[in-house]
Amino acid sequence: MTKYRVLTILKKNNDYVSGETISRELGLSRAAINLAIKALKQEGYDIMSSTKKGYLLINDPDLINEGELTYLLGEERIKQITLLQEVDSTNSYLKLKANEANEGQVVIANKQTKGRGRLGRSFISPENEGLYLSYLLKPNSMINEVSSITAWAAIAVNNAIEKVYGIRPGIKWVNDLVLNKKKICGILSEMAIESENSHIQYVIIGIGININQIQFEPSIANIASSLFLETNKRIKRSLLASKLIEELDILTRKWPNDKEEYYQKYVLDNITVGKEIKVIRGDETFEAFASKIDDSFGLVIQYEEKEETVRSGEISVRGIYDYV
Ligand code: BTN
Repeated sequence: MTKYRVLTILKKNNDYVSGETISRELGLSRAAINLAIKALKQEGYDIMSSTKKGYLLINDPDLINEGELTYLLGEERIKQITLLQEVDSTNSYLKLKANEANEGQVVIANKQTKGRGRLGRSFISPENEGLYLSYLLKPNSMINEVSSITAWAAIAVNNAIEKVYGIRPGIKWVNDLVLNKKKICGILSEMAIESENSHIQYVIIGIGININQIQFEPSIANIASSLFLETNKRIKRSLLASKLIEELDILTRKWPNDKEEYYQKYVLDNITVGKEIKVIRGDETFEAFASKIDDSFGLVIQYEEKEETVRSGEISVRGIYDYV
């Protein structure tokens, strides 16, 4: 869209840019540039116009759009990113495109009306407050190999958060990110398998991060928080989105060979080991002690003199949101 091409130019320059320079760079008429500036102002961008000097971007709203992401990630990367104003679920949307799309395809929505969480739960996704992103992987792997991709994704999110906020949230096994005992991010990985040989067709990693929310629905107010509430830093969601996409691109290149790097970080970031936990398995719930993360990212637990490794499913941890 023309207005976002103009925005990218304004963002690259910390000074006035003349209308003539913009129209030359984009091969568009001065009238088209004027219209684009008007549209950007309507969207909330604060742009000074001077007849002599041209245009200066003074302030930008917290929007995730083509202009912001092109500025942050470049013209090439943006081609594989679909931005939606509203969708039921970015995971469901990407699933419909997954067979034709290439690895690295990203879908981001400003709002989800039916954001999905693990175990059939919903993920509340209010407009312009969080990041709701799905990423497509096509790993050359078998089904038993990819279960740890979800744990790798938690590390990718933590790497991105560290770059922007300078902190690493804790990871509650397997991949909830926690700050001050409250959940700030959830990850839902979904995959398709070739029926004849258990080979992976694709994996969709769906990530929901609470970024700038200041309040939550009563049903989750005790267990959820946002990066803003816990750090007091209000950052632009597009910045975190760009860092996360970069980290997921790195994950894609490193999978599965650089396991040691992701495993070491996972062990350091995890806040489950050493704690009393509840294991929820179908209708059954039992208490156990979380003793370590095994080298396939499984959680080793001890209970009733037994030791076993949990590879999937749900646990709650004493002292952290839902198990206080
Ligand atoms: C969980 O906490 O159980 C996982 C939540 C995952 C939410 C993200 S938001 C983007 C993507 N689209 C969805 O519908 N879900 C994931």
